[in-house]
Amino acid sequence: MNFKGKNVLLRAITESDQKLLLQWANDPDIWPMLGTWHFPVTEKDQKIWFENISANSLNQRFAVEAPNVGLIGTANLVEINWKDRNAFHGMMLGPVDIRGKGYGKDTIMAVMRYAFEELGLQRLDGSMIEYNKASLAVYCQKCGWKEEGVQRKWYFRKNKFWDKIIVGVTREDYFDLIKTNHYWDG
Ligand SMILES: CC(C)(COP(=O)(O)OP(=O)(O)OC[C@H]1O[C@@H](n2cnc3c(N)ncnc32)[C@H](O)[C@@H]1OP(=O)(O)O)[C@@H](O)C(=O)NCCC(=O)NCCS
Repeated sequence: MNFKGKNVLLRAITESDQKLLLQWANDPDIWPMLGTWHFPVTEKDQKIWFENISANSLNQRFAVEAPNVGLIGTANLVEINWKDRNAFHGMMLGPVDIRGKGYGKDTIMAVMRYAFEELGLQRLDGSMIEYNKASLAVYCQKCGWKEEGVQRKWYFRKNKFWDKIIVGVTREDYFDLIKTNHYWDG
């Protein structure tokens, strides 16, 4: 079942998304911002990745679509732990010119709504590289996430080690947030 933010639509990733996803997978402006890391990706690698993502209830990946634009990025809920009711969440927007327009915040709000109001999860985990100020701002200043710790010198990027900022949000944080910001009202 697809789910929505106020503007974005989150849906299953399809074969027709692979061309753009491959382009973003090799984009040097995106990957230094992400915690995950890989060598340059070929069409074959991309195909193998796509074939392995379906029908895995513990690792869900979504395409993010904006109205009149189409695919703008991806978001995920992975390592879903049904016993303790938590999961890890991450997202990325591909085109640089689509950033700063509220789609990131809307995607995170939609993922939280789905995780807490549909899947019944208790908390979400996340993390970012210390220099990813946009990510820290959107999660912790706009979407109710809290900084919960730092793993020092965890990432190696640009010939330097960088801290990993550990963040998280509980269902109580989410419901407090929407009571305050009235995100879904109207
Ligand atoms: C991080 C990312 C998801 C943010 O999404 P976005 O659509 O650009 O952000 P939004 O437009 O929703 O911004 C929401 C808020 O965050 C703040 N923000 C956004 N970019 C910022 C920046 N570079 N510095 C400081 N604050 C920033 C804005 O103040 C905005 O608040 P406002 O509503 O008061 O204007 C997106 O830029 C992205 O995908 N970047 C590349 C990959 C990545 O970093 N993923 C996250 C890995 S942890």
